[in-house]
Amino acid sequence: MDAKTQSARFLLPVVSQGLEPIVVASASGRTVTDIDGNTYLDCFSGISVVNAGHNHPRILAAAREQMDKLVHAASCVYHVPVVGELAEKLAGIVPVARNSAPDGTRLADPKSFFGNSGAEAIEGAMRLAKQHTGRREVVALAYGFHGRTIGTLSITGNMGRKKNNGPYLSGVAFGPTPYCYRCPLTLSYPSCDLACAHALRDTIRQQTSGDVAAFVVEPILGEGGIITPPTEYLTVAAQILHEHGALIIVDEVQTGFGRTGKMFGMDHSTNVNADIVAMAKGIANGFPLGAFTASAAVADAMKPGDHLSTFGGNPISCAAALANLAVIEEEGLIENAVARGAELMARCQAMQEHCRWIGDVRGKGLMLGLELVRDRATKEPAPDVAKAVRAKMRERGILIGVGGIFGNVVRLQPPLSITGDECDRAATELADVFASSSLAS
Ligand SMILES: Cc1ncc(COP(=O)(O)O)c(C=O)c1O
Repeated sequence: MDAKTQSARFLLPVVSQGLEPIVVASASGRTVTDIDGNTYLDCFSGISVVNAGHNHPRILAAAREQMDKLVHAASCVYHVPVVGELAEKLAGIVPVARNSAPDGTRLADPKSFFGNSGAEAIEGAMRLAKQHTGRREVVALAYGFHGRTIGTLSITGNMGRKKNNGPYLSGVAFGPTPYCYRCPLTLSYPSCDLACAHALRDTIRQQTSGDVAAFVVEPILGEGGIITPPTEYLTVAAQILHEHGALIIVDEVQTGFGRTGKMFGMDHSTNVNADIVAMAKGIANGFPLGAFTASAAVADAMKPGDHLSTFGGNPISCAAALANLAVIEEEGLIENAVARGAELMARCQAMQEHCRWIGDVRGKGLMLGLELVRDRATKEPAPDVAKAVRAKMRERGILIGVGGIFGNVVRLQPPLSITGDECDRAATELADVFASSSLAS
């Protein structure tokens, strides 16, 4: 261990990939460079964060300009214009239900709150839902993931993420995950007629007192393994929960900001009528920021002093977020995510034809997952193979992710600015790794 790496021993030993971690020195665009000068093509974006690419010059310039003016003032105690400007921008793009004004003609603007992370956004969103409805219970999906605080782990149905930290909060009910490859109801889409969505009625009837404040749902379950529900799922599920008086909190922490080939993951579905949308990760291209945006009628349940975050709405992060949104729109990153995502998807599907390990290929835009199994008939998960693929890709200079409820899903989530040549390189190397006999342990 040299002088640059020995400081790692002062950190909580939670860094884990089953390998020595890369010691990162710098990053630019899609390239990560380690302290020895080795470069890597980043196909994981710092866990789906740097959608515009690492250190985008325009985003850095906006952050620097803001830093020279104001670093921190406590945006929940004073009004800082750049924070309001970001909220105004979000009011225009976040697909939250808009409310009619009392005269029935004007539309009231949605309102936002800013924190520092995805978990904080979900916590705040649940608090607002409880305050607005006067109800206390929450429904979530069995394989969802929403963060690592007690509140968010309580609504996360993943023992691997929850271990050694219970007991968790009561008042949480889980509905079946719309996981077509491993349907919890052992049905097949589309003949199932979205039975998993309709089963949410049973979830409410059997697991709650009817006092449901909110349904928290990801449009694509990222940590669960890029589980990609049929697009109508969200519409039908939201309708059922609305019928029961619950609010819909859509967790766009991982799916937001162009990742799925639309600005938000829920934009693939129609008439969701979300009440609150939670965001983080890609919102500020790496500057720490979490947010939730609520329809005005819901947002106004909060009164002065009801909620606060000391660092929430950091002016530098908000300036970066505004520049990031301009970059996403003006540099055509969503269009690129659609085009490059289609290319990568086609290449992965072609790999599936030849590779016995790949049981399923799924995702949207540049949020793709390959579920690896020991045997396609039994679907026995192959998490060791997924880890081996990640290690071999790293040896070839490409960073990818691994996730999933069984730890067996290879995740491809590169910056949305990835080029056709870079996609080709990533897909060629991945196919070659899958073809190598040394994967068979
Ligand atoms: C869908 C979703 N929600 C919430 C979170 C938690 O975000 P954070 O790690 O910023 O707290 C994550 C993190 O992976 C996530 O994927």
